Amino acid sequence: MALGIDIVYIPRIKDADKLAKSVLSDKELEFYSKRNKKEEFLAGRFAAKEAFMKAMEKGLAIPFKKIEVLYKDSGAPYILFEEKTYEVSISHDKDYAIAVVKF
Ligand SMILES: CC(C)(COP(=O)(O)OP(=O)(O)OC[C@H]1O[C@@H](n2cnc3c(N)ncnc32)[C@H](O)[C@@H]1OP(=O)(O)O)[C@@H](O)C(=O)NCCC(=O)NCCS
Repeated sequence: MALGIDIVYIPRIKDADKLAKSVLSDKELEFYSKRNKKEEFLAGRFAAKEAFMKAMEKGLAIPFKKIEVLYKDSGAPYILFEEKTYEVSISHDKDYAIAVVKF
């Protein structure tokens, strides 16, 4: 078992719509389109995907879109990657978003 963590400074995200299209899957884009705080949502996804790559311990070579952050019925997020699911926890406050993943 390995853990990965990542933190994102939200104001670093300048063109949210453009970035969203390049890093979010179609399902994630549906969630994104319904969100008010788009930069915050995107930063959380970014942190989760980076944390997942750290937890995998295989370098940063996976296309972001292939790592999907979806929601359980409870509202808690999870990661779907190559038909397997992984635990993730996301938090944001003011300028920062953070995520931890268990692989
Ligand atoms: C989940 C909860 C702890 C969020 O806390 P918060 O301090 O307001 O916000 P944070 O920034 O720390 O966390 C937000 C993230 O928590 C995650 N989250 C949401 N619901 C969650 C849940 N039930 N369990 C675990 N994680 C959850 C999400 O990933 C969310 O980020 P995202 O919307 O960008 O995906 C809070 O909403 C809560 O106590 N919920 C209780 C369960 C609940 O009300 N469920 C209603 C579902 S409709």
